Amino acid sequence: MTAMYEGNSKVHIMDHPLVAHKLTIMRDKNTSVKDFRDLVGEIGMLITYEATRDLPLTAKEIETPICKTTQPTLAGKKIAVVPILRAGLGLVDGVLRMIPSARVGHIGMFRDEETLEPHVYFCKMPKDIAERDIMIVDPMLATGGSACAAIDEMKKRGCKNIKLMVLVAAPVGIDTVQAAHPDVDIYAGAVDERLNEHGYIVPGLGDAGDRIFGTK
Ligand code: PRP
Ligand code: URA
Repeated sequence: MTAMYEGNSKVHIMDHPLVAHKLTIMRDKNTSVKDFRDLVGEIGMLITYEATRDLPLTAKEIETPICKTTQPTLAGKKIAVVPILRAGLGLVDGVLRMIPSARVGHIGMFRDEETLEPHVYFCKMPKDIAERDIMIVDPMLATGGSACAAIDEMKKRGCKNIKLMVLVAAPVGIDTVQAAHPDVDIYAGAVDERLNEHGYIVPGLGDAGDRIFGTK
């Protein structure tokens, strides 16, 4: 189940006790790298469940041990999950466990720590990316600069149906993505209070990449 953010039908906030509970463990600075990484994957799975609610179904004839029957099956939509490196990598396994046939494209991006401007350093996509529905994944939506730059890259490559999935969002990040890309659906595990003077989400999780990979 999701709740709309400020009445906006394109912004979906997870409204589920499992997500709230798991995020609280992740927020705790004493949570280990292993537990943090596992939880990123678990919440990734739960958000994917909500973000795929609109997948089209088709009918399939099968035979159960009892009788012949026509039942729903996924209509075979082509999907690509696109993690924003590094931290987005932590969400890929969770998404793929829900959608095993999805392809994976990678966008490498880092924020300049002074200006908070995003810089693209790597981009490798499946050849047929323009025909796929895109799910961009990143644990953090802070200023929104990285997400907007990633969406721009996907649109440059002809992608039309794009969703953004994050664990924690700042209100300003949501507003920035919405203003630049009103067509993009945003799925977030939680919306926090604000950003601090260093561009970190408050209360947030800290530096998600460092906590997933144990680099600090
Ligand atoms: C983090 C995070 C997002 C970005 C969000 O990545 O994973 O990509 O910051 O911030 P923004 O909304 O203000 O752009 P970071 O640049 O720290 O790189 P990393 O994933 O390599 O740690
Ligand atoms: N990037 C992070 O990893 N954490 C934040 O709080 C903001 C940006």
